[in-house]
Amino acid sequence: MNHKISKAIFPIAGLGTRFLPATKSVPKEMITILDRPIIEWAVIEAAKSGIDEMIFVTSSRKNIVLEHFEKSELLEFNLKKKNKLDKIKLIETQNRLGKFSLVIQDEPKGLGHAVCCASNFFDKDQSFAVILPDDLIMSKTPAIKQLIEIYEKTNGGSVIGLEKVPINKVSNYGVIEYKKKYKNFFTVSAVVEKPNKSEAPSNLSIVGRYILNSKIFQFLKLGKKGFGNEIQLTDSLVSLIDSPGLFGTEFDGKRFDCGNKLGFIEANINFGINDKEINKHLRKIIKKL
Ligand code: UTP
Repeated sequence: MNHKISKAIFPIAGLGTRFLPATKSVPKEMITILDRPIIEWAVIEAAKSGIDEMIFVTSSRKNIVLEHFEKSELLEFNLKKKNKLDKIKLIETQNRLGKFSLVIQDEPKGLGHAVCCASNFFDKDQSFAVILPDDLIMSKTPAIKQLIEIYEKTNGGSVIGLEKVPINKVSNYGVIEYKKKYKNFFTVSAVVEKPNKSEAPSNLSIVGRYILNSKIFQFLKLGKKGFGNEIQLTDSLVSLIDSPGLFGTEFDGKRFDCGNKLGFIEANINFGINDKEINKHLRKIIKKL
Protein backbone atom coordinates (compact mmCIF):
# COMPACT_ATOMS: atom_id res chain seq x y z
CA MET A 1 0.00 0.00 0.00
CA ASN A 2 1.24 3.50 -0.79
CA HIS A 3 1.92 5.75 2.12
CA LYS A 4 0.43 9.21 1.98
CA ILE A 5 2.97 11.92 1.15
CA SER A 6 2.80 13.98 4.32
CA LYS A 7 6.26 15.56 4.57
CA ALA A 8 8.21 17.92 2.31
CA ILE A 9 11.85 18.95 2.45
CA PHE A 10 12.66 22.51 1.37
CA PRO A 11 16.44 22.76 0.80
CA ILE A 12 17.26 26.44 1.29
CA ALA A 13 20.84 26.43 2.52
CA GLY A 14 22.46 27.58 -0.75
CA LEU A 15 24.53 30.75 -0.97
CA GLY A 16 22.33 32.40 -3.59
CA THR A 17 25.35 33.84 -5.41
CA ARG A 18 23.34 34.72 -8.53
CA PHE A 19 21.36 37.15 -6.43
CA LEU A 20 24.18 38.97 -4.68
CA PRO A 21 24.34 41.56 -3.20
CA ALA A 22 20.69 41.12 -2.06
CA THR A 23 21.49 37.69 -0.57
CA LYS A 24 24.38 39.05 1.47
CA SER A 25 21.99 39.58 4.39
CA VAL A 26 18.55 38.47 3.12
CA PRO A 27 18.01 34.78 2.38
CA LYS A 28 16.99 34.31 -1.26
CA GLU A 29 13.79 32.58 -0.12
CA MET A 30 12.66 35.71 1.73
CA ILE A 31 12.73 37.90 -1.36
CA THR A 32 9.16 38.54 -2.42
CA ILE A 33 7.19 37.63 -5.50
CA LEU A 34 4.27 40.04 -5.32
CA ASP A 35 3.51 40.30 -1.58
CA ARG A 36 4.78 36.93 -0.32
CA PRO A 37 8.31 35.59 0.16
CA ILE A 38 9.30 32.89 -2.33
CA ILE A 39 9.30 30.28 0.47
CA GLU A 40 5.65 31.02 1.32
CA TRP A 41 4.52 30.28 -2.25
CA ALA A 42 6.34 26.93 -2.01
CA VAL A 43 4.79 26.07 1.36
CA ILE A 44 1.31 27.02 0.08
CA GLU A 45 1.86 24.65 -2.88
CA ALA A 46 2.75 21.83 -0.46
CA ALA A 47 -0.19 22.53 1.87
CA LYS A 48 -2.63 22.58 -1.06
CA SER A 49 -1.26 19.17 -2.06
CA GLY A 50 -2.12 17.56 1.29
CA ILE A 51 1.38 17.85 2.83
CA ASP A 52 1.31 18.90 6.48
CA GLU A 53 4.91 18.69 7.68
CA MET A 54 7.40 21.21 6.26
CA ILE A 55 11.11 20.61 6.86
CA PHE A 56 13.46 23.49 6.05
CA VAL A 57 17.12 22.63 5.51
CA THR A 58 18.86 25.93 6.11
CA SER A 59 22.17 27.49 6.99
CA SER A 60 22.40 28.79 10.54
CA ARG A 61 21.82 32.42 9.48
CA LYS A 62 18.34 31.79 8.12
CA ASN A 63 16.12 31.62 11.24
CA ILE A 64 14.18 34.51 9.75
CA VAL A 65 12.55 31.97 7.40
CA LEU A 66 11.03 30.03 10.30
CA GLU A 67 10.00 33.30 11.95
CA HIS A 68 7.87 34.12 8.92
CA PHE A 69 5.71 31.05 9.66
CA GLU A 70 5.25 31.81 13.36
CA LYS A 71 2.22 33.54 14.83
CA SER A 72 2.98 37.22 15.32
CA GLU A 73 0.97 38.17 18.43
CA LEU A 74 2.47 41.67 18.67
CA LEU A 75 1.83 42.59 15.04
CA GLU A 76 -1.73 41.21 15.25
CA PHE A 77 -2.30 43.22 18.43
CA ASN A 78 -1.05 46.45 16.83
CA LEU A 79 -3.09 45.94 13.66
CA LYS A 80 -6.20 45.31 15.78
CA LYS A 81 -5.57 48.54 17.71
CA LYS A 82 -5.38 50.44 14.42
CA ASN A 83 -8.53 48.64 13.20
CA LYS A 84 -6.67 47.21 10.17
CA LEU A 85 -8.63 43.98 10.26
CA ASP A 86 -8.13 43.23 6.56
CA LYS A 87 -4.34 43.27 7.13
CA ILE A 88 -4.65 40.77 10.01
CA LYS A 89 -6.06 38.29 7.53
CA LEU A 90 -2.81 38.49 5.58
CA ILE A 91 -0.58 37.53 8.51
CA GLU A 92 -2.62 35.01 10.49
CA THR A 93 -2.60 32.10 8.06
CA GLN A 94 1.12 31.24 7.74
CA ASN A 95 1.42 29.22 10.94
CA ARG A 96 -1.60 27.14 9.97
CA LEU A 97 -0.02 25.87 6.76
CA GLY A 98 1.56 22.92 8.59
CA LYS A 99 4.04 21.82 11.22
CA PHE A 100 7.47 23.38 10.68
CA SER A 101 10.92 21.96 11.47
CA LEU A 102 14.40 23.23 10.86
CA VAL A 103 17.55 21.29 10.07
CA ILE A 104 20.92 23.00 9.71
CA GLN A 105 23.25 22.20 6.80
CA ASP A 106 26.54 23.34 8.28
CA GLU A 107 28.21 23.89 4.90
CA PRO A 108 26.71 24.18 1.39
CA LYS A 109 28.06 20.85 0.12
CA GLY A 110 25.40 20.46 -2.56
CA LEU A 111 21.68 19.81 -2.97
CA GLY A 112 22.07 16.05 -2.38
CA HIS A 113 23.83 16.73 0.91
CA ALA A 114 21.12 19.22 1.93
CA VAL A 115 18.36 16.64 1.34
CA CYS A 116 20.38 14.02 3.24
CA CYS A 117 20.56 16.35 6.27
CA ALA A 118 16.82 15.67 6.78
CA SER A 119 17.14 11.85 6.65
CA ASN A 120 16.25 11.38 10.34
CA PHE A 121 12.71 12.50 9.64
CA PHE A 122 11.94 9.38 7.59
CA ASP A 123 11.34 5.67 8.11
CA LYS A 124 12.55 2.89 5.85
CA ASP A 125 10.67 2.80 2.55
CA GLN A 126 8.86 6.09 3.18
CA SER A 127 8.30 8.54 0.33
CA PHE A 128 8.40 12.30 0.70
CA ALA A 129 8.38 15.47 -1.38
CA VAL A 130 11.32 17.77 -2.14
CA ILE A 131 10.48 21.30 -3.26
CA LEU A 132 13.05 23.85 -4.43
CA PRO A 133 11.33 27.15 -3.70
CA ASP A 134 13.19 29.21 -6.31
CA ASP A 135 11.61 27.07 -9.02
CA LEU A 136 8.28 28.85 -8.61
CA ILE A 137 5.45 27.18 -10.53
CA MET A 138 2.17 28.83 -11.46
CA SER A 139 -0.43 26.15 -12.19
CA LYS A 140 -4.09 25.24 -11.70
CA THR A 141 -3.25 21.99 -9.89
CA PRO A 142 -0.20 22.47 -7.64
CA ALA A 143 2.86 20.97 -9.35
CA ILE A 144 3.80 18.71 -6.42
CA LYS A 145 0.22 17.41 -6.34
CA GLN A 146 0.57 16.40 -9.99
CA LEU A 147 3.65 14.36 -8.99
CA ILE A 148 1.84 12.82 -6.01
CA GLU A 149 -0.92 11.64 -8.36
CA ILE A 150 1.69 9.78 -10.42
CA TYR A 151 3.31 8.35 -7.27
CA GLU A 152 -0.11 6.92 -6.39
CA LYS A 153 -0.72 5.53 -9.88
CA THR A 154 2.72 3.87 -10.05
CA ASN A 155 2.21 2.11 -6.74
CA GLY A 156 4.78 4.12 -4.82
CA GLY A 157 7.29 4.92 -7.59
CA SER A 158 9.55 7.94 -7.24
CA VAL A 159 8.64 10.85 -9.50
CA ILE A 160 10.51 13.90 -10.79
CA GLY A 161 9.15 17.06 -12.42
CA LEU A 162 10.35 17.64 -15.98
CA GLU A 163 10.48 20.51 -18.41
CA LYS A 164 11.68 20.60 -22.02
CA VAL A 165 14.54 23.06 -22.57
CA PRO A 166 16.27 24.14 -25.79
CA ILE A 167 19.02 21.61 -26.53
CA ASN A 168 21.74 24.29 -26.36
CA LYS A 169 20.70 24.97 -22.73
CA VAL A 170 20.85 21.35 -21.44
CA SER A 171 24.29 21.91 -19.94
CA ASN A 172 22.60 24.06 -17.24
CA TYR A 173 20.35 21.25 -16.00
CA GLY A 174 20.01 17.67 -14.82
CA VAL A 175 18.64 15.73 -17.80
CA ILE A 176 16.89 12.33 -18.09
CA GLU A 177 17.12 9.41 -20.45
CA TYR A 178 13.86 7.49 -20.77
CA LYS A 179 12.74 3.99 -21.77
CA LYS A 180 9.05 4.61 -22.33
CA LYS A 181 6.87 7.63 -22.90
CA TYR A 182 3.12 7.98 -22.62
CA LYS A 183 1.78 11.53 -23.21
CA ASN A 184 3.59 13.63 -20.57
CA PHE A 185 4.73 10.61 -18.53
CA PHE A 186 8.18 9.00 -18.82
CA THR A 187 9.85 5.89 -17.40
CA VAL A 188 13.32 7.11 -16.51
CA SER A 189 16.32 4.89 -17.31
CA ALA A 190 19.22 7.26 -16.51
CA VAL A 191 19.97 10.79 -15.31
CA VAL A 192 22.90 13.08 -16.10
CA GLU A 193 23.81 16.31 -14.32
CA LYS A 194 24.67 19.20 -16.67
CA PRO A 195 25.66 17.19 -19.77
CA ASN A 196 27.29 18.65 -22.88
CA LYS A 197 24.85 19.23 -25.71
CA SER A 198 26.42 16.36 -27.70
CA GLU A 199 26.12 13.87 -24.80
CA ALA A 200 22.64 14.81 -23.57
CA PRO A 201 20.25 11.84 -23.72
CA SER A 202 17.23 14.17 -24.13
CA ASN A 203 16.23 17.79 -23.62
CA LEU A 204 14.00 16.91 -20.67
CA SER A 205 15.41 18.76 -17.71
CA ILE A 206 14.72 18.06 -14.05
CA VAL A 207 12.76 20.80 -12.31
CA GLY A 208 12.82 21.38 -8.54
CA ARG A 209 9.93 19.04 -7.67
CA TYR A 210 10.52 15.46 -6.52
CA ILE A 211 8.73 12.58 -4.80
CA LEU A 212 11.52 10.38 -3.47
CA ASN A 213 11.76 7.11 -1.57
CA SER A 214 13.87 7.14 1.61
CA LYS A 215 16.05 4.47 0.00
CA ILE A 216 17.84 7.41 -1.62
CA PHE A 217 19.54 8.24 1.71
CA GLN A 218 21.67 5.07 1.50
CA PHE A 219 23.25 6.48 -1.66
CA LEU A 220 23.49 10.06 -0.41
CA LYS A 221 25.18 8.99 2.82
CA LEU A 222 28.10 7.68 0.74
CA GLY A 223 28.89 11.37 0.15
CA LYS A 224 29.98 10.89 -3.48
CA LYS A 225 30.88 14.18 -5.09
CA GLY A 226 29.72 14.94 -8.61
CA PHE A 227 29.52 17.98 -10.89
CA GLY A 228 31.13 21.08 -9.36
CA ASN A 229 32.63 18.91 -6.59
CA GLU A 230 29.23 18.95 -4.86
CA ILE A 231 27.04 16.09 -3.62
CA GLN A 232 24.40 16.19 -6.34
CA LEU A 233 20.81 15.04 -5.85
CA THR A 234 20.64 14.12 -9.55
CA ASP A 235 23.42 11.51 -9.16
CA SER A 236 21.53 9.76 -6.37
CA LEU A 237 18.33 9.38 -8.41
CA VAL A 238 19.80 6.32 -10.21
CA SER A 239 19.51 4.39 -6.93
CA LEU A 240 15.71 4.52 -7.33
CA ILE A 241 15.47 3.26 -10.93
CA ASP A 242 15.24 -0.50 -10.13
CA SER A 243 13.17 -0.10 -7.01
CA PRO A 244 10.71 1.57 -6.40
CA GLY A 245 11.04 2.79 -10.03
CA LEU A 246 11.76 6.30 -11.28
CA PHE A 247 9.24 8.22 -13.34
CA GLY A 248 9.07 11.71 -14.74
CA THR A 249 6.25 14.01 -15.67
CA GLU A 250 6.08 17.17 -17.72
CA PHE A 251 3.67 18.89 -15.33
CA ASP A 252 1.08 21.48 -16.40
CA GLY A 253 2.16 24.94 -15.34
CA LYS A 254 4.55 27.79 -15.93
CA ARG A 255 7.90 27.69 -14.12
CA PHE A 256 9.96 30.72 -13.14
CA ASP A 257 13.56 30.41 -12.01
CA CYS A 258 13.48 32.99 -9.24
CA GLY A 259 17.13 32.33 -8.42
CA ASN A 260 18.23 34.73 -11.16
CA LYS A 261 17.29 38.33 -11.91
CA LEU A 262 15.39 37.76 -15.15
CA GLY A 263 13.31 34.82 -13.88
CA PHE A 264 12.52 36.74 -10.70
CA ILE A 265 11.23 39.77 -12.61
CA GLU A 266 9.27 37.56 -15.02
CA ALA A 267 7.63 35.85 -12.01
CA ASN A 268 6.72 39.18 -10.45
CA ILE A 269 5.14 40.42 -13.68
CA ASN A 270 3.12 37.21 -14.10
CA PHE A 271 1.95 37.13 -10.49
CA GLY A 272 1.15 40.85 -10.74
CA ILE A 273 -0.95 40.30 -13.88
CA ASN A 274 -2.83 37.62 -11.94
CA ASP A 275 -3.51 39.93 -9.01
CA LYS A 276 -6.96 41.58 -9.05
CA GLU A 277 -5.78 44.65 -7.14
CA ILE A 278 -2.91 45.73 -9.42
CA ASN A 279 -3.66 43.93 -12.69
CA LYS A 280 -5.05 46.91 -14.64
CA HIS A 281 -2.39 49.40 -13.57
CA LEU A 282 0.40 46.94 -14.20
CA ARG A 283 -0.84 46.32 -17.75
CA LYS A 284 -0.86 50.10 -18.35
CA ILE A 285 2.70 50.40 -17.05
CA ILE A 286 3.87 47.56 -19.28
CA LYS A 287 2.17 49.06 -22.33
CA LYS A 288 3.94 52.38 -21.76
CA LEU A 289 7.42 50.82 -21.72
P1 UTP B 1 21.11 26.55 -6.45
O1 UTP B 1 21.79 25.74 -7.45
O2 UTP B 1 20.07 27.51 -6.92
O3 UTP B 1 22.20 27.26 -5.56
O4 UTP B 1 20.48 25.52 -5.43
P2 UTP B 1 22.05 28.54 -4.66
O5 UTP B 1 23.20 28.56 -3.73
O6 UTP B 1 20.71 28.62 -4.01
O7 UTP B 1 22.13 29.74 -5.68
P3 UTP B 1 23.34 30.21 -6.63
O8 UTP B 1 23.43 29.19 -7.73
O9 UTP B 1 24.58 30.31 -5.79
O10 UTP B 1 22.87 31.53 -7.10
C1 UTP B 1 19.21 24.91 -5.64
C2 UTP B 1 18.53 24.75 -4.30
O11 UTP B 1 19.30 23.90 -3.46
C3 UTP B 1 19.59 24.54 -2.24
C4 UTP B 1 19.47 26.03 -2.55
O12 UTP B 1 19.19 26.77 -1.37
C5 UTP B 1 18.35 26.07 -3.56
O13 UTP B 1 17.07 26.05 -2.95
N1 UTP B 1 20.94 24.14 -1.78
C6 UTP B 1 21.97 24.10 -2.67
C7 UTP B 1 21.15 23.77 -0.47
O14 UTP B 1 20.20 23.79 0.35
N2 UTP B 1 22.38 23.40 -0.07
C8 UTP B 1 23.43 23.35 -0.92
O15 UTP B 1 24.54 22.98 -0.48
C9 UTP B 1 23.21 23.72 -2.25
